[in-house]
Amino acid sequence: MKILIIGGGGREHALAWKLSQSPRNPQLFCAPGNAGIASLATCADIGADNVPVLLEYARKQNIDLVVVGPEAALAAGIVDAFQDRGMRIFGPTREAAEIETSKSYCKNLFRKHNIPTASYRVFDRLDDAARYLDRTPHPVVIKADGIAAGKGVFVCRTPHDSHEALVQMMKDRIFGKAGERVVIEEFLAGEEVSVLALTDGQTIAILESAQDHKRVFDADEGPNTGGMGAYSPAPVFTDEIATRVAREVFVPMVHALREERRPYKGILYAGLMLTRSGPKVLEVNARFGDPETQPLMVRLKTDLLDLIEATIDGKLSKVDLEWDPSPAVCVVAASGGYPGEYKKGLEITGLEDAERMPGVHVFHSGTALRGDKVVTAGGRVLGVTATGATHAAARDLAYRAMAPIQFEGIHYRRDIGQRALRS
Ligand code: AMP
Ligand code: GLY
Repeated sequence: MKILIIGGGGREHALAWKLSQSPRNPQLFCAPGNAGIASLATCADIGADNVPVLLEYARKQNIDLVVVGPEAALAAGIVDAFQDRGMRIFGPTREAAEIETSKSYCKNLFRKHNIPTASYRVFDRLDDAARYLDRTPHPVVIKADGIAAGKGVFVCRTPHDSHEALVQMMKDRIFGKAGERVVIEEFLAGEEVSVLALTDGQTIAILESAQDHKRVFDADEGPNTGGMGAYSPAPVFTDEIATRVAREVFVPMVHALREERRPYKGILYAGLMLTRSGPKVLEVNARFGDPETQPLMVRLKTDLLDLIEATIDGKLSKVDLEWDPSPAVCVVAASGGYPGEYKKGLEITGLEDAERMPGVHVFHSGTALRGDKVVTAGGRVLGVTATGATHAAARDLAYRAMAPIQFEGIHYRRDIGQRALRS
């Protein structure tokens, strides 16, 4: 079987690695891929949202199954386009993916179907939004309506900060079209957890929990990023909370999308805040999370290919999910300057020393091959995932494996998994 993976980050490297372990021995292709994925798959330099060229490539290579990683491809309608031509593809249609690609669509759906989330208002005009902020207690959270690579959310403590955020989004247009509309919402306090579920539109299979670390610096300081590390499981996510989240969030969400005639197949990712009054949804993603997918794939025992096919074929009720009980911790190394400006093309050394350590997986994000050298090619460069008997053991191993890896400007958080050790 020939599988084409769309994307080129740590998530896609982890998915490619897991698919490469399938007893069905698939032949892997990836567009655009990265230097790490290139050791598992034939990579083609085609952008993840370049749907016409991807279609042509898939036809030429006789691809049997396409697995979509990033939201940009979903927003470009990749699933609709492949399905229209009778090709098998894993992921939601463009309309169903609006649950991620339009925060106002998602929030309005939640309001209509009573799914717990922060209270909010939607604004299309800067002056209306500014007037609303003048009479709203702070902190508030301001979100660009569209997709902004995980960076479109500002938590604003003071009216000065919130006005500044509005101006950046709606006047300076730092996120382009994505920030023309904003959602202003209530600030929620609590512990965050990421919960991913597979759904074929009927059955929902909730994956093990994970927690990511969105802020760039230790102790959750600095701006939000795509994610600087993750661990699984998240001890705060007890069985009791899991039951509640299934009943109050996932079941009504899948039902609501069906009722709206946007039946959902693929991965649904709920970013939750566990507040004093129960779990509330902060965000929904229509895809696997990155970096959460890195520790999750390392812990997943079931064949991912079986799960993906069961999701497409509406047979998820027939497959069981099995997990390695050992916790896994993933530390992400980023380019100097990320999430702001950064240099590319810097040589990365020490990868083999890390990869050689038992219990360690190095998944590449922004890397490229230059001759026989691996160089940096993005903001998040790679993730080191380690498993261990406890969260502490997994974390210590991940940091030991990160130590030999070097490139100019490398930075990573030193406190990944800290919260799991407290519980
Ligand atoms: P999002 O992309 O919507 O998950 O937002 C990114 C991050 O901003 C989240 O992981 C939270 O840390 C924070 N955040 C988002 N919405 C809220 C909220 N309503 N209250 C508090 N923090 C939030
Ligand atoms: N780690 C957050 C995300 O994938 O959106």
